[in-house]
Amino acid sequence: MQFNGNAFEADRLKPIDSLNRIPQKLRISITDRCNMHCVYCMPKEGLQLYPKNQILSYEEIQRLAAIFAGLGIKKIRLTGGEPLVRPEIEKLVCALSSIDGIKTISMTTNGLLLNKKAAQLKIAGLHGINVSLDTLKPDRFKSITRIDGLSQILLSLQTARDEGFEIKINTVIIRGQNDDEIVDFAKFAIATGYPVRFIEFMPLDGSHIWNPSLVVTKEEMIQRISQSGLELLPLNNNLSDPARLYAIKDNRATIGFIPSISEPFCGACDRLRLTSDGKFLTCIFERPKNDVKKLIRAGKSDTEIADYLMACYQKKPPGLISLLEHNTLRSGLNLMNTIGG
Ligand code: GTP
Ligand code: 5AD
Ligand code: SF4
Repeated sequence: MQFNGNAFEADRLKPIDSLNRIPQKLRISITDRCNMHCVYCMPKEGLQLYPKNQILSYEEIQRLAAIFAGLGIKKIRLTGGEPLVRPEIEKLVCALSSIDGIKTISMTTNGLLLNKKAAQLKIAGLHGINVSLDTLKPDRFKSITRIDGLSQILLSLQTARDEGFEIKINTVIIRGQNDDEIVDFAKFAIATGYPVRFIEFMPLDGSHIWNPSLVVTKEEMIQRISQSGLELLPLNNNLSDPARLYAIKDNRATIGFIPSISEPFCGACDRLRLTSDGKFLTCIFERPKNDVKKLIRAGKSDTEIADYLMACYQKKPPGLISLLEHNTLRSGLNLMNTIGG
C-alpha cells in the first residue's frame, strides 16, 4: 500500500523495538550551522559542516515528517545547530503543522534570533520554545558562547513570551564552568516564571572536554538548592519526558532536572531523530548510519521509506543505560550540532 501525501495508512503497524518502546516524538535537526560556538559543543576553530546540498530541503523534511506521522509520531521538535539560522523556517513550521496526526511543533533554540522571528513563528503555528541559557553573567556568557549576547537572549525571551509562547529554559550544568549559578538560576525561575531545566552534561561534545567529574548530578543540584533555603516539592512526571519537575515551595515557579547520566530514562524513551543531512537516529547515542536521504534521493516510495524506518527502529539500542553498564561512556560520542540534542 502506498502513502499518499498526508494520508494515513490506518492499518500500518506501529514501530516497536525489542524493549517495547513506541515512538511518539520526532526531533528534526534542520541545520548543523550555529551562530554561537559554545565551548562544550564546538572547538574554537569550529567543526567541519555539511555542504549545503547534503542538507535535507524543506520539501524532503516535510515528506519525511508525513511518513513519520503515518508511523505514529505526534510531536515534532525542530533543533539544529541553531534552527533559526535556516532561512524562512516559518515556512517549514507552517508546512509541518498541516500534516495529519502532528499535534505540536516546538523548537529548541539558542534564542539569539528569536526576538526577530517570534511573531512569524507564532503565526506559522509553532507551539513551544526551549531556549538554551547556561549563565546569567554577561562576561561568562561571552566566554561560554564566544558571543556577547546575554541581553539579546533576555530580550528574545520577553518577546517570545509576549507572543504567547510557552517557554522553557535549558541550562547545561558543567562543574567548574557554571555550577556556582545553580541557585541563581532557581531564583531566576522564581523572578521570571520561566521553568528552568538543569541538564546533566552528556558526552555529546564536539570539543571533547567531557569527563565524568564534570557532571553535576540531579541529586547534587537539589542538595545545593535546598541548602540555599528553597524547598523543592516533586511534581508528577510523565516518565518519557526527560525532565523531572519540582515546584519551589511558596513561589509560583517550576524547575526541572534532566538526569540523563545519573538516572537515564531510556526505558521510557519515545523519541526519534532526523539529522540535517538525512540520517535517522533511533537513539541520541547511536552513530548516524541509517541514511534515509539516500532513499529519498533514489526515488523510493513512501512505503519503502516507511519500511526502512521500521526496520531500523527494531534495532534501536537500549541507550545510555547500556553504555553506563558497559563502562563505555567517553567524550565526543556524537556531535550535538548534527543531532540537535
Ligand atoms: P520537552 O518536550 O519540552 O521536554 O523538550 P525536550 O526536553 O525533549 O527537548 P530539549 O531539546 O529542550 O532537550 C533538553 C535536554 O534533554 C537536552 O540536553 C537534550 O539533549 C536532552 N534530551 C532530549 N531528549 C533526550 C533523549 O532522548 N535522551 C537523552 N539522554 N537526553 C535527551
Ligand atoms: N549535554 C547535555 N545537554 C547538551 N546540550 C548541548 N550539548 C549538551 C551536552 N553535551 C543542550 C543544549 C540545548 C539542548 C538541545 O541540548 O543546551 O538546550
Ligand atoms: Fe532514548 Fe537513547 Fe536518550 Fe536513552 S539515551 S532516552 S534510548 S535517546
